[in-house]
Amino acid sequence: MTAELLAASADFTDILTTLGLSPVIPVVTIQRETDAVPLAEALLRGGIPIIEVTLRSSAALGAIEAIRKDCPSMCVGAGTLWTPEETLQAASAGAEFIVSPGIADAVQDVTRSLKLPYLPGAQTASEFAHLVRRGIKAAKFLPAGPAGGPAAVAALSAVFPELAFCPTGGVSATTAPAYLKLACVPCVGGSWLTTAPLLAERNWKGVQELAQRASQLANYKP
Ligand code: 3PG
Repeated sequence: MTAELLAASADFTDILTTLGLSPVIPVVTIQRETDAVPLAEALLRGGIPIIEVTLRSSAALGAIEAIRKDCPSMCVGAGTLWTPEETLQAASAGAEFIVSPGIADAVQDVTRSLKLPYLPGAQTASEFAHLVRRGIKAAKFLPAGPAGGPAAVAALSAVFPELAFCPTGGVSATTAPAYLKLACVPCVGGSWLTTAPLLAERNWKGVQELAQRASQLANYKP
């Protein structure tokens, strides 16, 4: 292992601490910036202290900034990042962790220099091997449901015992426990707490109730 990769292993504690905050990371595409704070407050009331705001809407950076300013107990991250430019923008907005749906080495390089926890995504053994070679210690498994579910995570974990997995994509309240039972899975990601209809209706009580149930999923850890 090169000196550079050894230095990168400093990421280990940071990202695992972030993933240990909650059994579920809500993955949210926010269309109206004004929804950001009430949404984050509803998640917090439900016991979920972390949120991944995807950069798939024009409101995303403003939403991250608002949550960071007005909800200091919420850990806010930026998702769907592919480029260094987006990563710098997200960091300026106050993102506390960075997520890519796939391999984005240039994003990893920026997060390392910014000392921001980073969670890249992968699906195949070859992709996970690439991430491990680059010093990554935790990765999103995407799309977890269509790509084989908990059995696929268990099989990949046998090959990459040093890696923590955050299964995301097609995960639900019903399927989350089977992932969380695996020792290699500190948390799952998903949009089921913050569905498009709940957001469109500004149904913060509904979000809070789903968050409350999701926070109980911590009991499924071994
Ligand atoms: C995403 O990036 O939107 C996540 O993969 C969420 O997937 P889900 O909507 O299936 O939970």
